[in-house]
Amino acid sequence: MRKVYFDNAATTQVRNEVVEKISEVLATEYGNPSSTHSFGRSSKSVLENCRKEIAAHFKVSAAEIIFTSGGTEADNLILNSCVRDLEVKRIITSKVEHHAVLHTIESLANTCNLQVDIVHLDAKGMVDYTHLENLLKSSSKKTLVSLMHVNNEVGNKLDIAKVAVLCKENSSLFHSDTVQSVGHYKLDFSKIPLDFAAVSAHKFHGPKGVGFAFIRKNSGLKPLIIGGEQERGLRAGTEAVYAIAGLTKALEISYRDLEKEVVYIKGVKNYFKEQLLQEIPSVKLNGYCGDNEKSTYTLLNILLPISPEKATMLLFQLDLKGIACSKGSACQSGAVGGSHVLTEILSKKEMQYPSIRFSFSIFNTLEEVDYVIGVLKKIINN
Ligand SMILES: Cc1ncc(COP(=O)(O)O)c(C=O)c1O
Repeated sequence: MRKVYFDNAATTQVRNEVVEKISEVLATEYGNPSSTHSFGRSSKSVLENCRKEIAAHFKVSAAEIIFTSGGTEADNLILNSCVRDLEVKRIITSKVEHHAVLHTIESLANTCNLQVDIVHLDAKGMVDYTHLENLLKSSSKKTLVSLMHVNNEVGNKLDIAKVAVLCKENSSLFHSDTVQSVGHYKLDFSKIPLDFAAVSAHKFHGPKGVGFAFIRKNSGLKPLIIGGEQERGLRAGTEAVYAIAGLTKALEISYRDLEKEVVYIKGVKNYFKEQLLQEIPSVKLNGYCGDNEKSTYTLLNILLPISPEKATMLLFQLDLKGIACSKGSACQSGAVGGSHVLTEILSKKEMQYPSIRFSFSIFNTLEEVDYVIGVLKKIINN
């Protein structure tokens, strides 16, 4: 059967060069990077070179990169420690954050003395910057703002530099979940004055189970995972050097080839959008995903106004045709209830219709787009 993978916001295909790098390091660098003998020192050197290379992409120092098991852990580390160790008493966030952020904040609010303020969104789910500024000015409590850079479901892109400056001006800390933007956008943290960021390798053709937290120097953060002194005492546990080497290679290639890959992926997305609007004019684009300025060039989230009978079978039918895409976000597939992001931006009536997310990568082709549009048309017109 033909297979088409349009679920790159859920995870991406690992690049061949990354697989090669992982295999090489896995086979040769088996020393524990904390050991002081030559095997350990060799692994340590791979590890620290990775850290330096990654730091250079963001124009920060290597000590500010703390390897984790992925985006979820990085978000958890930052949010938990801010409340526990930095005496943050108020978090400003939005209702469209990833659950790694939202559920962590909920859990903190239930157990700590924490005020949670929710920033308003416009009708398409974009942060209302004026309201954010008003919130920042409205309290003298120690505040952390947690807002994602690129929304994983609808693709809306935050003005991360603007928010970072607003936070600085109001003496508040700023954490951004950059899981969906790192590897897709260049980020210069020497110019963007944010305090913390969360990154995950598997969103940019790296391996799963590895990522990092960017933690600004002298932040005062303490570890979430307690044990040894790895990661400058901020994350205990022997580092998965092969996975970190894979992450580093994936990031290197993403940024090396960024310009040409952006043009290519944007081309795939724009073609998908044009064909869709031409062949299925009743379709609606959710959030700002139709606008490549306000949204990432990597995804489209579409609403299909079809009957409930057709809707129940939609993903199943696409799957039968070998097409991988997502209902809401992958983290929710199989979960009961609709997407918490779409609930915020769609009307009750619109929520009765199915919405699907198609997300693109360098491995997709225009011919795959034609195939998917053809299948969608058949399902809808049958
Ligand atoms: C915006 C966002 N944050 C966090 C995560 C979690 O990252 P990880 O899968 O590395 O734990 C994801 C993954 O779906 C995501 O899209």
